[in-house]
Amino acid sequence: MLEGKKILLGISGSIAAYKCAAMTRLFVKAGAEVQVLITANAADFVSPLTLATLSKNPVHSQFVKNNQGEWTNHVELGLWADLFIIAPCSANTLSKMANGICDNLLLATYLSAKCPVFFAPAMDLDMYLHPSTQANIQKIIGYGNTFIEPNAGELASGLVGPGRMAEPEEIFEKTQAFFNHSLPLRNLNVLITAGPTYEAIDPVRFIGNNSSGKMGFAIAETFANAGAHINLVCGPTHLKINHPNIKRIDVTSAAQMHQNVMANYTNADVVVMSAAVADFTPVQISSEKIKKQGTDLQLSLTKTTDILAELGKNKTKQILIGFALETNNEEANALEKLKRKNLDLIVLNSLQDKDAGFAGENNKVTIFEKTGKKTAYELKTKNAVAQDLLKHLIQLLHA
Ligand code: CTP
Repeated sequence: MLEGKKILLGISGSIAAYKCAAMTRLFVKAGAEVQVLITANAADFVSPLTLATLSKNPVHSQFVKNNQGEWTNHVELGLWADLFIIAPCSANTLSKMANGICDNLLLATYLSAKCPVFFAPAMDLDMYLHPSTQANIQKIIGYGNTFIEPNAGELASGLVGPGRMAEPEEIFEKTQAFFNHSLPLRNLNVLITAGPTYEAIDPVRFIGNNSSGKMGFAIAETFANAGAHINLVCGPTHLKINHPNIKRIDVTSAAQMHQNVMANYTNADVVVMSAAVADFTPVQISSEKIKKQGTDLQLSLTKTTDILAELGKNKTKQILIGFALETNNEEANALEKLKRKNLDLIVLNSLQDKDAGFAGENNKVTIFEKTGKKTAYELKTKNAVAQDLLKHLIQLLHA
């Protein structure tokens, strides 16, 4: 899973360059954005057209793109990438990287790149074993770059030994491990609630609310992409979610939500209560459909358990994030809830904001911290709001 990761693939001249087509495809299939940089020699081994088609981006090879003087900005390429993989890295490119030589676009980008760099050498046995090559590898490792060791096997020359570039799958796995390691919520268990609850009146009727679950689902997806393992307890919603890090637990009523949240609380590092839990539920559920007799119907309601307040009381290590939906005296009410429920953050949605709220794609929130610090955001998509919440959470985790 490499969703949204930006990978710059630098290809130098070696027969192994043909493997870069498969490698590009693996990255793109995993959700990464890929740009390819190729040396003139590499283009003899793999077609730029193939790489451009598979990466869905133009392939960069020249400092000057056309005779109108448009140039390829190597600094921008280096800044764009989250990771620069030089594979295959020929003896020639290796030696130039080790010595700061800059006579092509790949090398200029290498010298200006700010992101981590992987290099996967590929060359013939004797070239690989030559002391100068070995010294160059050590030099490049010394610059903080990651060495992807070649495999031993039959080489293009017919010689047998080390020098064969690591297979695309191996480089892919190393890349995935690198990104997993750098994910901000890696190894964190997050419990999220979403959607409404339905409180049954009789077998066909219920008391519910307009919550769509979209905000909670956006948070679940954003946090999962940041490496967290999510238990998503959700009330009735038509939304679908499919993510290897998300376990979905469907419930209907506030009582079921309460039960499932408590069952997953001890293991949770972070809880986000974005569900619109019903505050009241019928005292009795009629076993048969209530007939319309008389002119009035009196329903007797009782308070549901305030799940978040209970979590706050039993907090051990958890970071607790609550939501508040207010129509008046918003700020004071949100801050009162933050304190009363022993929360670390509260996200205030105001129903006074046009285009924001339950069913739509957008939301406008203000986030309050325990210290009273307030951050008011503009109207934005629920996914973007989830990103803002992620930033607040990362700050809390590092506080
Ligand atoms: N919440 C909960 N259990 C409930 C009701 C609400 O855990 N039975 C959570 C919600 O998921 C949300 C926060 O508490 O994170 C909202 O607080 P709440 O006091 O219910 O706010 P309102 O519903 O706005 O209540 P009121 O208008 O009564 O203040």
